[in-house]
Amino acid sequence: MSAPGDTIGVFDSGLGGLSVLSSIARSLPGADLIYFADTAHVPYGNKSDAFIRDRVLKIGRQLVEHGCTMIVVACNTATAAAVSALRESLPGVPVVGVEPGIKPAAKASKSGRIAVLTTTSTARSERLSRLIRRHAAALAVDVLPCPGWATRVETLQLDDAGFAEDVRQHLAPTLAAGADRIVLGCTHYAFLTPVLEPIVAGRALLVDVADAVARQCQRLSSAPATAGRGRLTLLASADPGRLPAALAALGLTRLAAQLAAPARLAAV
Ligand code: DGL
Repeated sequence: MSAPGDTIGVFDSGLGGLSVLSSIARSLPGADLIYFADTAHVPYGNKSDAFIRDRVLKIGRQLVEHGCTMIVVACNTATAAAVSALRESLPGVPVVGVEPGIKPAAKASKSGRIAVLTTTSTARSERLSRLIRRHAAALAVDVLPCPGWATRVETLQLDDAGFAEDVRQHLAPTLAAGADRIVLGCTHYAFLTPVLEPIVAGRALLVDVADAVARQCQRLSSAPATAGRGRLTLLASADPGRLPAALAALGLTRLAAQLAAPARLAAV
């Protein structure tokens, strides 16, 4: 019999956290994974802090009731608004948050200018301002809210020439000013890499933290990486059938192969 592994609960407003889940599954192939998509309330990026905090606390509690031994807030917006409150409400359960990779971007930048792409909520958060003050005080940092981008990923409308042109125009000023690292400050934007990469090519590199988050999960895990059965459970607060369909559409075939059962509706 294999040694028991962790059960890691990973959640986001919708599909974005699947980019983080995919890295975690690679780093801890034995861990059982429960992914919760708050599809009844996506996007979070235009909601109030109080609303997001309420959702985060309810979802965290529910994941622990499902047997999770570690929680990953696979959403920059939810981390900024509520990771501290979640840690307080779940003493004894490791909680890993996701924050924009300002630190690695600032370290790697040669031009002294970086940009961070975020939701409207993350852009105005005190947590992001603090992160920038701590790790990039000596650099120019362009904070670019990108309203509508997460919804674009949710609807899986990724290769649309009109959208690519909007993205090009949104990034043009920061690229023209010399930004050489573009931080993906929303987990949904990892799935926009095919749109973003040709736009920044030759001028800047994209910075994503999914692999760093997975390494943090590995450090906090109480079990060897291969312990457990590596089963994936998908839960959603609305329309759960969209999740397995999204795994296929987003090219996450390895995760699809770990599915233990059909995706379920979870009333949270
Ligand atoms: N994926 C989320 C993030 O990392 C939130 C997107 C949204 O729901 O607006 O910020």
